[in-house]
Amino acid sequence: MKVAIIGCGAIGSFIAEAIEYGGIGAEISYIYDVDRQRADALATKVESRIASSFYEILNSDVDIVIEAASKKAAQDILKRALPAGKSVLLMSIGALADMSFLEEAFLLAEKGNSRIYLPSGAVGALDALKSAREAGLEEVTLITTKPVQALMGALIDVKLEEIEEKTLLFEGNAGEAIKVFPQNVNVAIAISLSGIGVEKTKVKVFADPDAELNMHEIYARGAFGSLYFKVENLPSPQNPKTSYLAALSAVATLRRISSRLKIGT
Ligand SMILES: NC(=O)c1ccc[n+]([C@@H]2O[C@H](COP(=O)([O-])OP(=O)(O)OC[C@H]3O[C@@H](n4cnc5c(N)ncnc54)[C@H](O)[C@@H]3O)[C@@H](O)[C@H]2O)c1
Repeated sequence: MKVAIIGCGAIGSFIAEAIEYGGIGAEISYIYDVDRQRADALATKVESRIASSFYEILNSDVDIVIEAASKKAAQDILKRALPAGKSVLLMSIGALADMSFLEEAFLLAEKGNSRIYLPSGAVGALDALKSAREAGLEEVTLITTKPVQALMGALIDVKLEEIEEKTLLFEGNAGEAIKVFPQNVNVAIAISLSGIGVEKTKVKVFADPDAELNMHEIYARGAFGSLYFKVENLPSPQNPKTSYLAALSAVATLRRISSRLKIGT
C-alpha cells in the first residue's frame, strides 16, 4: 500500500512516523505541505520524497492519499484524487458536511473505483451508532468541552481570552457547528454520517478555562436502547486543537485497511 501524506503538521507527521516505525503494511511515497519548511522538517525524520505539487502525487502510483491539512484542502483533494483512482483517508471530515458535496464525492469515487476512509478521529462509539441506526435513531447529541486555547480560530463573536468560567459557546446542529468551528468539530460530522445526518445531530460546544483536556460526550437514543460515550483527550503536543486520539485513529485505520481481520461494524 503506497501512501502520500498531504499536510505535515501534528497529524500528518505522527502518521508518517508511525508508518516509518510501526510495521503498518504501508510505504510513504510522498509527503507534501504548502509550507515547504514543514515538509522539509518531516523529511529529516522519515524516508520519503517531497512532492513539488499535488499534481505530482495524482500522476504517481500512490494508492491512498492521506489528507491531514484543512477542510478547504480536503475538498480539493477529494475532487481530484477520487476520479484518478486514488482512495482518500480524510482527517478534515468537516469537508463532507455539505450533502451535495458528499453525493459528488460518491460519484467521483465510483468513477475512479476508489474509496473514502473516515477515521473515528477524536471520538469513539461510531460503530455502535452505525449498528443502532439500522433500527432507527431518535436522537444523537454531541457535547464538546475544550480549553479556551483549543477553540481559538472559531468564527464566533466572543472574546475567548476573556472567558473566566465554563461557557456555552454554541448550540445547534452539526452542519451549523462545523461552519463555526471548522477546526474543532470534525467529530460532529463523523457522528452525523454514522448516525442521523448533519441536520438532526445536535451539538453543544463549551469553552472551559479550567479544562486541560478535550472532552467529547455522545448521547444517542433509538430502537436499540440508548448509549452514552465520553472521551477525555490529551491534546497533541504540536497542536492543542488536535487530540492525540485523532492521530492514533488514522494509524489504526491504515492498519485496518491492510489487515485480514476487520473488527467493528
Ligand atoms: N477527524 C478528527 O477528529 C480530527 C481531529 C483533529 C484534527 N482534525 C483535522 O485534521 C487536519 C489536520 O490537523 P493537524 O492538527 O495536523 O493540523 P496542523 O495545523 O498541525 O497541520 C496542518 C498542515 O497542513 C498544511 N496545509 C494546509 N493546507 C494545505 C494544503 N492545501 N496542501 C498541503 N498542505 C496544507 C499546513 O501547512 C500544516 O502544516 C485539520 O483540518 C483538523 O481540523 C480532524
